[in-house]
Parts: sequence; C-alpha cells; structure tokens
Amino acid sequence: MNIGIIIYTQTGNTGIVARKLQEKLSDAGHTANVEQITISGDTPAQPGKFKLDNVPAVDGYDAIIFGSPVQAFSLNPVMKSYLEQLPSMTNNKVACFVTKQLPISWTGGTQATGKMRSICGAKGAVVKGVEIIFWSKGKRDQSVSKGVENLSNLF
Ligand SMILES: Cc1cc2nc3c(=O)[nH]c(=O)nc-3n(C[C@H](O)[C@H](O)[C@H](O)COP(=O)(O)O)c2cc1C
Repeated sequence: MNIGIIIYTQTGNTGIVARKLQEKLSDAGHTANVEQITISGDTPAQPGKFKLDNVPAVDGYDAIIFGSPVQAFSLNPVMKSYLEQLPSMTNNKVACFVTKQLPISWTGGTQATGKMRSICGAKGAVVKGVEIIFWSKGKRDQSVSKGVENLSNLF
C-alpha cells in the first residue's frame, strides 16, 4: 500500500514516531511517506492565532495515518484545523496517533484521539484504529514500540 503519514510536530516527538512508523511500514513492504503540516504564528499554537502553511493533500494514498501532539488536555489546534479543512475522505482508510507527556490516557490522549476519530469519521473515512503514545521517561520506549507495532498491523 501507498501510505501517507501526515503529522504536526512542535518539538519533534511526533516526528520521531512518524519516522519509526515509516521504517516499520517499509519493512513490511509498503511505501510510506512522511509529510509535515507547518504553520506561521507563535508556538504553542493557539486556536485562531496561526496560519496553516504546508497543508499536505490526502489524495493519492491508499491509507493515511495522522499524528499530532496533545495540547492542553486536547487535540493540538493545528491538527484540528488541518483535519477540519480536509475535503471529503469517503471510504479512505485512516489511523490516528497522538504523543503526550503525561503517562495517563485521560489527560488529553482519549480526548485528542476521540476528536481525530470524529472529524475523520464525519468526512467519511474508515478509522481503523487510534494510538496514544506516552512520552514520559518510564513509559516512552515501550509505548513507542507498541504504538508503532499496533499502527503498522492495521495495514
Ligand atoms: C503547551 C503544551 C501543552 C501540553 N499539554 C499536554 C497535556 O495536556 N497532556 C499531556 O500529556 N501532554 C501535554 N503536552 C506535552 C506534549 O503533548 C508532548 O510533549 C508531545 O509529545 C509533543 O509532541 P511534539 O514534540 O511532536 O510537538 C503539552 C505540551 C505543550 C507544549
């Protein structure tokens, strides 16, 4: 499959996961391409106070994996506006992941992945799975490996 990994990353963590995922998917025989959403404006981005600069297109891929940081117990506003401006994704296969610092899902992870799932679903995409990846020191390595494994097994 030709898989797009479309991410926003402010400090690089989501980018690290995206590249590990790209490697894993390539090892499994897929073509995987990482594309980064970029903005102009101050970071951390605040709703309504940034402009999307690089806006990756979703067409041309057999499946898309969206990745974003959690921000303020919620989905990062950059990923939220990016997803909201996408055209219809009827029957597109999609998966989503977030990275977050706090080692508990309900401190933003469940909320953020729920939001990604609902925006993509409302656009007609088939959301095959979501993953929450913890960046806290004790959990990071295991969480990254498990998240990458689970995401790659979806395709
Ligand atoms: C302004 C701000 C708010 C954040 N809020 C949360 C939060 O509510 N819950 C959490 O677990 N992590 C939170 N984090 C941590 C980030 O989600 C985490 O470091 C993430 O991996 C960053 O991804 P990135 O390096 O791809 O930007 C926050 C970070 C920033 C800068």
